[in-house]
Parts: sequence; C-alpha cells; structure tokens
Amino acid sequence: MNEPVVVILAAGQGTRMRSSVPKVLHDLCGRPLVAWPVAAAREAGAGRVVVVGGPDRALEPGLPEDVALAVQPVADGTGGAVRAAADHFGDGTVLVLNGDVPLVTAAALQALLASHAAARAAATLATMTLEDPSGYGRVVRGPGGVVEQIVETKHPGDATEQQLAIREVNAGVYVFEAGPLRGALERLSTHNAQGELYLTGVVALLAGDGAAVHAELLDDPTLLLGVNDRVDLARVRALAQQRIHEAHMRAGVAIVDPGSTVIEAGVRLAADTVVEPSSFLRGGTSAGAGSRIGPLTTLIDATLGERVHVPHSYVQGPVEVRDDVTIGPFAYLRPGTVLRDGSKAGTFVEIKNSDVGEGAKVPHLSYVGDADVGARTNLGAATITANYDGRRKHRTTIGEGVRTGVDTTFVAPVTVGDGAYTAAGSVITKDVPPDALGIARARQSNIEGYAQRPPADD
Ligand code: UD1
Ligand code: CA
Repeated sequence: MNEPVVVILAAGQGTRMRSSVPKVLHDLCGRPLVAWPVAAAREAGAGRVVVVGGPDRALEPGLPEDVALAVQPVADGTGGAVRAAADHFGDGTVLVLNGDVPLVTAAALQALLASHAAARAAATLATMTLEDPSGYGRVVRGPGGVVEQIVETKHPGDATEQQLAIREVNAGVYVFEAGPLRGALERLSTHNAQGELYLTGVVALLAGDGAAVHAELLDDPTLLLGVNDRVDLARVRALAQQRIHEAHMRAGVAIVDPGSTVIEAGVRLAADTVVEPSSFLRGGTSAGAGSRIGPLTTLIDATLGERVHVPHSYVQGPVEVRDDVTIGPFAYLRPGTVLRDGSKAGTFVEIKNSDVGEGAKVPHLSYVGDADVGARTNLGAATITANYDGRRKHRTTIGEGVRTGVDTTFVAPVTVGDGAYTAAGSVITKDVPPDALGIARARQSNIEGYAQRPPADD
C-alpha cells in the first residue's frame, strides 16, 4: 500500500474556546493540540503530512519541520480547508483528520486505512456511538446500514428531530480516494444553516453517486473526542495524561499518586524512577534510574542523572543534574545550572547559570549566580554571590576543596584558589590565593561593664 497523504484541518477560528490563541495551538500535555494528530499520523506511516492553517500562518512554531503548510484564505468550513490542500493529494489515498481530535492513535488510523483498503471504498469515515452526541455530525444510514449522509447539528435547522436522536456520530477522521474526493469537493455548496462548505457534504455526494462509502465504528470513543471548548480540552487532557502515566508505569516508573501528578508528553523517565505526589514534570525533562522526584516538585526542561533525589523543589531548566545529586527540600534551580556527580543544592538555595563541581555542597540559605564552584568545595550557610553591579553580571570562580565560612559574600568578579577558606561574615572583594584564609570583616571590640552603665538622665 502506498503511504497515504495526510491532511490535518487547523484553520478554524475556534470561537468556542473564547481565546486570542488559535484553538489548535492550545496546550495539551506540553504539545499544541495540532501536534497530536500530526504525531499519530507520522507513527501510522503517513507519507506527506499537510496542515491547513489560516492566512496568518501562526501555526508554524507549533509544528515539526517536515510538515507542509497549506493556507485556507478564509475559514469557510471544513470542506474549504480540504480544498486548500488539494494540490497535495496526489492520486492515491488521502487521510483527513480534524486538527482538534488529538487522542486518535496510530493504531486506530492504521486500522481505518486497512478497512478502507479492504472495502475498496471511495470514502471511509471513523464513527463512534456517544451517550451524549450533541455538537457532533450524526451518521445517517439507509436500508442495509448503508451510509447516506452526515447531518450537522451545531446550528438549528441543519438536522431534524429524528436525526438529532441518532447517537452514531462522525469523528472527523476520514480516508478518501483522491479522485472521488476532488470531484466531490468541486461540487460542494454552502447551502446549509451556517453557509459553510461542510466536508461532511462530500459523504452525501459520494453516496449519491453510488460510490462505496464505508463507516468504521470504533469501540473506544475516547480516541475520537473533539475539542471545541475549554471543557472539552480539560476532559481530553485528563485522558491524555492518563495515557502518558500508563505508558511510564508499564515501563517501570512508579507514579505514587497519578491524580496529582502532571507529566508532559516529551518527558523521559528510566525504569525505577519514583514520582512522588503533587509533582509536575514538564517540557524535555528526563530522569535516570533510581531517581526520586517530589513530593511537590516542579521540573521544567531538567536533565537528571541516576539516583537524584529532589523533594519539594522548583527547577526551571535548561538544568543538568548528574548522578547521585541531592536537591532541596526547598531549592530553586534556574537556567544554566549544572550540578555534577555527588553534589548538593540544599534548603533555601537558589542557583543560576553556575557549575557546581563533583561532590561540592551548597547546603543552606545561599544564592549562587554566575559562578563556578570546584569539586569537593563546601559553601557555608548563607554564602551569597553578589554577581550584579546594577549594570552587568560578573562571574565568581571558586576552586576545589574550598571552605567558605557562613555568611560569606563574594563581590564578583572574584576568584578563590583551591583549598582556600573564607572567614564567617566576610565580604570578599579581592581574590583569595590557594590555601589562604580570606577574612574581610570589622574586628570585634567588647565594651566591658556595658550592662552596668549609668542610667540615662531623663
Ligand atoms: C466537525 C464535523 C462533524 C464532526 C466533528 C467531529 C464538519 C462540517 N463537521 O464538526 O461532523 O462530528 O467535526 O469532531 O466537518 N477547520 C478549518 N477550516 C474551517 C473550519 C474548520 O480548518 O473553515 C478545522 C478546525 O480548525 C478544526 C476542524 O476543522 O480543527 C473541525 O472544525 P470544527 O469547526 O471544530 O468542526 P465541528 O463543529 O467540530
Ligand atoms: Ca471540532
């Protein structure tokens, strides 16, 4: 079988979302809605994938590079959208997907293509039976169950009472042969309640021609739910999230409380990772085996090695964490942070754009920004890098095996040699040589007998 051309419809205005963002760009588990059918089509063995967008071409950033874009100049209906992609049809099979049906799987698409081929049909549509079919086009079958037409129901006047009672609906996933599809698209008209070119009109035209129109009833309707408003989106998100969770759990990841855990589509987790409750794993986050994430931790674009432990923390990447690292509780890691093997970022610690060496520790109450911290160095509690002079950022370079006293401030740019110390409470403005003690604070003086001083005059 030749690879089918895939056309994904994404030029609608999405008015029911009540949003300035086009509907198909709304986020679903870390990917725009439209990227879901694109991924399913690719996985199902699609040939060329064409996404039909509006004239502003705002869809490009949300799509992979190997996707072709077609432009529907005015949103005059789903039929108009497919027409806009006609140059790409070729002369084989065309798979058409609504861009707002994100949960469809590669397996379902393959099954649909196979049954289309087996039936030698001109058109095959995926259908499902819903308890509440409202909002969907109803599948009208004639004698012998032959598909006669799809009636739209969004606008009063499109469907009769009798048709509204039908619970078998059109899912917005179709297979067509290019020739008959072209012919029927040319004959489509806007004679309907909404004055639009309905793609579903193609079905009636082909059936009227006596062409074979096949409807494939899918038994899992959750694969075919459409997203028209934010209520639909939330329902679909719960299902998408469940699918992501189940894939991880089947691959050996422990998700202690799936209901309170968010894991986006692009996240990779090794077997024996444990995700504790109320944790949020986003973007390109990954974790190696034996890592324990959460509870109450957010990781965004964080790359974790093996046996990393990160409770109660917030990580905004890109952040790279190597093996056997401890983070938190209550740490905040920001972009450009590298924590090398066996290092630690402890409690009430913020680290940004810094490289923390092997076995180095930043255990308590510190801000480390634009710094290089050598291996085995220990920063005392409340060590702070003053990296910003009000105009520019400067680096702090701290060697290996350094011990900073509590409450050390490094006024960058400044360099501390290997094996050096700083005294507690020091404001270090000059370089400290290797193995030296940097001390920069006022000397203490004691006033004897202070408590017995004479009373005040008044
Ligand atoms: C459509 C079907 C309906 C089916 C339902 C399944 C039609 C006329 N109706 O209705 O039978 O039950 O999907 O979910 O096709 N789009 C364009 N250009 C346009 C209009 C829409 O590209 O001018 C795109 C939208 O971005 C969307 C898709 O087509 O991704 C479907 O459009 P939508 O308006 O949501 O159709 P439904 O009312 O859901
Ligand atoms: Ca829809």
